[in-house]
Amino acid sequence: MRVLVVGSGAREHAIVLALAQDPAVTALACVPGNAGTAAVAEQHGLNVLDPQAVAAGAKAWEADLVVIGPEVPLVAGVADAVRAAGVTCFGPSAEAARIEGSKAFAKDVMAAAGVRTASAVTVDNPAHLDAELARFTAPYVVKDDGLAAGKGVVVTDDLDAARAHAMRLLDDGHPVLLESYLDGPEVSLFCLVDGSTVVPLLPAQDFKRVGDDDTGPNTGGMGAYAPLPWASSGLVDEIVTRIVAPVAAELVARGTPFSGLLYAGLALTSTGTQVVEFNCRFGDPETQVVLPLLRTPLAGLLHAVATGTLAQQPPLEWSDGAAVTVVVAADNYPGTPRLGDVVTGSEGEGVLHAGTRRRADGAVVSAGGRVLSVVGTGPDLAAARDDAYRRLAGVQLVGSHHRTDIALRAVEGTVVTPAGG
Ligand code: GLY
Repeated sequence: MRVLVVGSGAREHAIVLALAQDPAVTALACVPGNAGTAAVAEQHGLNVLDPQAVAAGAKAWEADLVVIGPEVPLVAGVADAVRAAGVTCFGPSAEAARIEGSKAFAKDVMAAAGVRTASAVTVDNPAHLDAELARFTAPYVVKDDGLAAGKGVVVTDDLDAARAHAMRLLDDGHPVLLESYLDGPEVSLFCLVDGSTVVPLLPAQDFKRVGDDDTGPNTGGMGAYAPLPWASSGLVDEIVTRIVAPVAAELVARGTPFSGLLYAGLALTSTGTQVVEFNCRFGDPETQVVLPLLRTPLAGLLHAVATGTLAQQPPLEWSDGAAVTVVVAADNYPGTPRLGDVVTGSEGEGVLHAGTRRRADGAVVSAGGRVLSVVGTGPDLAAARDDAYRRLAGVQLVGSHHRTDIALRAVEGTVVTPAGG
């Protein structure tokens, strides 16, 4: 099977590495890719936001399967164009991708499906902002209604800061979502979804704030681990039965069935599990810890979703161990990052590339805010965590920063869960 992966992050590097392990895969390409994916997959220059360009590129490369990593091409309709060109594609239609592309749409689907989520109001007129904010209490949650790579969210006790963020978004012409705050630990559950068939992967947890102890602004994700030693044995079944399956069924009922990876971001609150967000693709950085633990060959699985045969697949097989990833970010990320610095130690095992490119002289240089995602594995979470930080010690990038507490509480056994969580 010839598989073409669309994207250029550490998520796509993890997907490419997992696909390369599948004996059914005979050729791999990653567009546009990065310095890490180039070591495992062909690299071709394509505008991945142009549906017709990706479709034509996939046909010309004679792809048997296209796997679309990021949300922006999915929301732009790249999967639709690839399928229309007669190429099998893993990734939802633009209509179904609205579950991530429009938070207001996602809220509407959840309400119809009877799925619990934070109460929310959309504001598109600055004149209404103060009155709507007054309906909420601290902590205030202010989100960009559209796509913002995780950085459109501000959670703050400071009403002035909440107002200022909302005004910035409105001034830029973006509708704003004000939400009630959901307490409790967060869980990311990836589900393969083919219409109304839902197959969950291992649950993971990511770390969205830039600083240790969940301080500082939100980012695209600074680290992750899987599985969750503190989660109850029934958690995944509960999430599938009460949350993901009803949402998948609602999308089928609306005539926009979801085909691809439906990512449920959840909070285990004191009043039960609630949805923080849905995403229409594999999460980053959680993919970097979930896929190394998957033993079922990935290409066959994604092909089954893309061809509507997921229900006929045997149960997934997993390794017994754990995985931890720590993101190395460029100076000033999540603000405008400093780019173009030489990265050393990035060729080691477990070092996945995100914002990197290879310079003409062969050096790997930083080319994005999140530069690397260093993955450690082990028989348990403590060993995986040690492995990740040991590998990270071999990486050098001037001005870079990373969190030092990824998976720490889970290893210490101090994650506070609600009763029965
Ligand atoms: N880990 C957050 C995301 O992928 O959106």
